[in-house]
Amino acid sequence: SSPEDAISEESLKDFISSLPSREGWPQPLIQYKGYWFKPGILEGVLRASRDFAPRAGDVVLATQPKCGTTWLKALAFAVSNRSRHGLGAADHPLLTRHPQHLVPFIEIPGAAGGHVDIGALPSPRLLATHLPMSLLRPETRSLRCRVVYLCRDPKDTLVSRLHFENKVARGGGAGLLMDDAFGMFCEGFSPYGPFWDHCLEYWEESMVRPDTVLFLKYEEIKSDPARVVRRLATFLGIPLTEEEEGSGVAEEVARMCSFEKLTGLEVNQVGGVSHGNKVHVDNSVFYRKGEVGDWANHMSREMGEKLDRMVQDKLQGSGLVF
Ligand code: A3P
Repeated sequence: SSPEDAISEESLKDFISSLPSREGWPQPLIQYKGYWFKPGILEGVLRASRDFAPRAGDVVLATQPKCGTTWLKALAFAVSNRSRHGLGAADHPLLTRHPQHLVPFIEIPGAAGGHVDIGALPSPRLLATHLPMSLLRPETRSLRCRVVYLCRDPKDTLVSRLHFENKVARGGGAGLLMDDAFGMFCEGFSPYGPFWDHCLEYWEESMVRPDTVLFLKYEEIKSDPARVVRRLATFLGIPLTEEEEGSGVAEEVARMCSFEKLTGLEVNQVGGVSHGNKVHVDNSVFYRKGEVGDWANHMSREMGEKLDRMVQDKLQGSGLVF
């Protein structure tokens, strides 16, 4: 553990202002241990590295933003709570609560629709994080917490990010342009980026410890969501029973968590959450198109090829491909 682990509340802001900062995104980003963060988020990151106490049995959903966090939260919640909340039930939490609010973030306490003290939650906890593996407390590994990592084609992730930034920062200045966002993303300068380092950390961990890190891609959920539901259930130690298989539970979870189903619910259309730092995030902003390959509508083929080549280069030798 590093000296920052114990950084006091009083010195948090001073510490952050001592770190490298760079403009370009609607908010300047601050570099900490090789990754870029929005200032308000970094406070949470530092608090988490000081205060978060992993427990055996914790399940952590890890993503970079815009890779399908909302979807993974919905799927993992439905799978792990299916004995408590029957899938067909009229009062299923997914029908009345935003998936983002059902699974709290370790480092963003206000994102779950109000401050959530994760230390006070009963075990086993279902938690989420955008942190790279190297910034999660080492006990996450030693206690063998299960981690589900979800990544996505970087081109679609960037397009989704650009739309999100421009929606969240609405009224807060000129819209960010694709050319500029593209250049920054390719330099590894994006929130929680470099994109490839984040993926690689979890990828390598999933190779070494496949029983504790499950590595998923947005595209594979899209092509066969029921299959991923089964994999998730098995990985979490609660595989679908024969009876559940017979009654189509995997398909039912996939349907409940589908883009079409979730966007049709009022809770995902209205309302929002204040993240502090004057950032207000509408519930609807987590849903846009939910498609694979939408990048082609927002960047040129040359840009797509350039980003692909660059990411390939960064991932070379790892076995991870997009
Ligand atoms: P697009 O902007 O490409 O549509 P995150 O949840 O990590 O912020 O990611 C948001 C992205 O996931 C958005 O991508 C959003 O539309 C998509 N998404 C949200 N819920 C989804 C679902 N149930 N199925 C598929 N995609 C979903």
